[in-house]
Amino acid sequence: MWQFPKVVAHRGGGKLAPENTLAAMRCGLAYGFKAVEFDVMLTQDEVPVLMHDPDFGRTIKETAGGTGSVATTLASSLTQMDAGSWFSAEFAGERVPLLWDVLQFCREQQIWMNIEIKPSPGTAERTGAVVAQMVLDFYRQYPVPASLMPLFSSFELEALAQAQRVAPEIARAALFERVPPDWQQRLQELGAVALHTNHKVLTPELAHSIKQAGYGLFCYTVNDAARAREIVGWGVDAFCTDRIDLIGADFLA
Ligand code: G3P
Ligand code: MG
Repeated sequence: MWQFPKVVAHRGGGKLAPENTLAAMRCGLAYGFKAVEFDVMLTQDEVPVLMHDPDFGRTIKETAGGTGSVATTLASSLTQMDAGSWFSAEFAGERVPLLWDVLQFCREQQIWMNIEIKPSPGTAERTGAVVAQMVLDFYRQYPVPASLMPLFSSFELEALAQAQRVAPEIARAALFERVPPDWQQRLQELGAVALHTNHKVLTPELAHSIKQAGYGLFCYTVNDAARAREIVGWGVDAFCTDRIDLIGADFLA
């Protein structure tokens, strides 16, 4: 069963703002989105920050030639880096946000979150455990209504297993680029409530099986309204989109 929002802004503000920043979430809000997906990774000193790529170069270019990585950079340095200029001059100076600050922002703005745990290579278990502990600590300190409790997801099932160990009460979803034949066993082992997958690999039959088994079904990243309607017709519960300008938050309302 899916008890979460149905249309979610991918990486905060889709393609309309620099991904995984607070500016992206403000942009999403301006378009009426109160549900976001974003990616979380650990710095060298194991501080969870919002970031998609483990290596610098695409969104972070402050080092020589854009080289360097999140896992070898301290949070104090990383959060001083410019995460907006790569997108446009308008966002120059936008910082890499700490997960903790994003949790605060989303609580204040009543934004629901799909927190994608995105470990740097070789750090799946540690990333899952540290992120889950931080989220648990945050909500113990700052409670929210059940409808605002986040959903963890990850392609790294070892990270989700650690999230399950550390924060079993926070819901989990397994992410698959391609859905493996043993998907149901994997979901069961993780106590996951949903399966998240690329809409391009979904078939009506697979969607039917997942729904029949009682799981939520979420797709990324759907940027075409006709395609969104098609997969929803197959039983898909929810999806994230980069085109928050074309597919509104109330698209499935
Ligand atoms: O969580 C869904 C989607 O964000 C997964 O792919 O690479 O955009 O993080 P990616
Ligand atoms: Mg993601």
